[in-house]
Amino acid sequence: MYSEKVMEHFSNPRNVGEIEDADGIGKVGSPSCGDTMDIYIKVKNGVLTDVKFRTFGCAAAIASSSMMTEMAKGKTIEEVLKITRDDVADELGGLPEAKMHCSNLASDAIRAAIKDYLGKSSQEEN
Ligand code: FES
Repeated sequence: MYSEKVMEHFSNPRNVGEIEDADGIGKVGSPSCGDTMDIYIKVKNGVLTDVKFRTFGCAAAIASSSMMTEMAKGKTIEEVLKITRDDVADELGGLPEAKMHCSNLASDAIRAAIKDYLGKSSQEEN
């Protein structure tokens, strides 16, 4: 039921782990299945220089987190915020309808991490 790309990212996920001195952390959970995803980002001059994740979830959630870290790394905050929920699933060659919420977690988690970063950096300015 999964595309080859989903299976490939699930079997060999990129950027797994935590960033100890992360600039922003996004933690989200899916109310429908209870799976969770944490995304850690490092930001320099408005660019995401490093992105890592820890996901306790299904194959689609792991593949989506892995794909999202690859899509976001090296991009500016503005560019990353333009990545939609559907973009992650499209990059994975599509997901079954029942699994779309899993890829939504990835875009929600990176947005939460950016929000966390922006909140911290505006506090530092004050
Ligand atoms: Fe929960 Fe996929 S079934 S994230």
